[in-house]
Parts: sequence; C-alpha cells; structure tokens
Amino acid sequence: MPENIPLELIKAAIEVARHAYAPYSHFAVGAAAVTTDGSLYTGANMENASYGLTVCAEIGALQAACSAGKLADIVKIAVVGSPQSENFTTQSQLITPCGRCRQLILESAKLGQRDIEIWCASPNMTSIALHHSSTLLPHSFSADDLAIADKTWLDSQR
Ligand code: THU
Repeated sequence: MPENIPLELIKAAIEVARHAYAPYSHFAVGAAAVTTDGSLYTGANMENASYGLTVCAEIGALQAACSAGKLADIVKIAVVGSPQSENFTTQSQLITPCGRCRQLILESAKLGQRDIEIWCASPNMTSIALHHSSTLLPHSFSADDLAIADKTWLDSQR
C-alpha cells in the first residue's frame, strides 16, 4: 500500500459515484479532486442515449474545480469505478482514468506546474494505487508544444 493515503478524498469519490447516471453501461464512476486550499470538487459519470457523448466522472470533477476558478490548484484526484449496484462499496475492482481524462488531468497539472497525484481505489478500499499525471500520460502533448500558446495568458491563470 502507498503511504499518506488521502482517505477523505477517496471516500468523497466513493460517495459521489452513488450519483452516477449510467443507465447504458451500468458502470458507476466517482472522482474527487482536492486543491491547494483543501477544497473538494467531485464528479460522477453521466451517460447519454447517444452513448458517444458520455461524460466521465473525472471530467465532472475537473469541470467543478474549473468553475470555481481552481483548475490550476488541483493537487490530488481520487477515482473509483465498478458495476453500479447496491453492493458498490463491497467491490474490489480498481480502475484508472481513460485516455481522454488523462489528457484533461494533464492540462490542470501543466497549468498548476505540478505532478498531480491520481489515487485509484477499489470501492471497498482494499486496493489503492498511486499514479501521477506525468506517468499516466507519458510522452504527452500539451500547451508546451503549441508555439502559438499565449504564455502570458497561461501564466495569469497560475
Ligand atoms: N468512465 C469514467 O467515468 N471515467 C473513466 O476514466 C473511464 C470510464 C465511465 C464512462 C461510462 O459512463 C462508464 O464509465 C463505462 O465506460
């Protein structure tokens, strides 16, 4: 087990997964982000009849932090996911963020100039793995690669 496990953050991700809207996959995901000032922002996956427009839990949490003006301040994100059921909190499955979510988490990490901790936990909290934004998305493409990136604007957001 990794050290310094952010139990409250993981519990917040488990809690918000209860609100997953997943009538098509029946797979519930919860994500919680904590910022430098200790604020928590959570998200649950939200599916759609067109399937392809599904919004991941991580995106919900990132969007909530962004809406509070805290996108640059995210330090850690917890993610849990398992089949949606009454027994969700007994499940031992451990998931990691999908590729699209990794890219969006990286945007926040680059903005805040920190390597975001990504805590992946099973809903029953028996399995917990710590990853970082840099290792979950190696050889990434980011604003650093855009010659036209407005560095002044990015700096003003930090
Ligand atoms: N899902 C997430 O919310 N986050 C991920 O990182 C992977 C997948 C959701 C999308 C969909 O509602 C369900 O899990 C099954 O793919």
